[in-house]
Amino acid sequence: MSLKFHLPDEVNCNNEKFRVFITKEQIDERLAQLGTQLDKKFEGKRPIFIGVLNGAFIFLADIMRHVSIDCEVDFMKLSSYGDEKVSSGQVTELKHVDANLEGRHVILVEDIVDTGLSINFLVKRVKEMNPASVSVLTLLHKKDATRHDVQLDYVGFEIPDAFVLGYGLDYAQEGRNLAQIYVIESHE
Ligand code: IMP
Repeated sequence: MSLKFHLPDEVNCNNEKFRVFITKEQIDERLAQLGTQLDKKFEGKRPIFIGVLNGAFIFLADIMRHVSIDCEVDFMKLSSYGDEKVSSGQVTELKHVDANLEGRHVILVEDIVDTGLSINFLVKRVKEMNPASVSVLTLLHKKDATRHDVQLDYVGFEIPDAFVLGYGLDYAQEGRNLAQIYVIESHE
């Protein structure tokens, strides 16, 4: 039985209105392109995808199914925004990676890079484990909001500095199950 996706045109989440911003078709098409790029780049290298919990879990699950080379998966978790729409400006590690990353080709998988604080923290942590290489794959990048120098190797979509929801991304823990990406109306 195939999945029945949740695809409303508009969403009300925690008393804020959101509208469709990136459709399921656009996501599928972009993931297929990224999968092809990753296949070429990591052929014979048995990369390990490290998903950043919680937001990247859907993107990670989908991108891995667009990749046909041998690969592994693991997870890390950082402290989140709490229930707010703006970053607390502080990052701590809540779950460390289980695999030994020494000599491995690591692909860090993020849902979104906003200020860049989280991804910088993650790249630094992973590099401390002596991997053969570290690449960063993010579904979304809010370029105008990024305040740090960030290493982004693969970006699904560059988006404006507006709050987005769905496809793994939440607002106060809600909305992760939406199958496409929505943007908050008040930012228009
Ligand atoms: P950064 O450290 O400021 O780059 O923030 C990255 C993290 O903030 C992401 O992994 C998300 O969990 C969260 N985040 C940033 N922008 C949004 C958004 O628009 N919607 C939902 N979560 C977001």
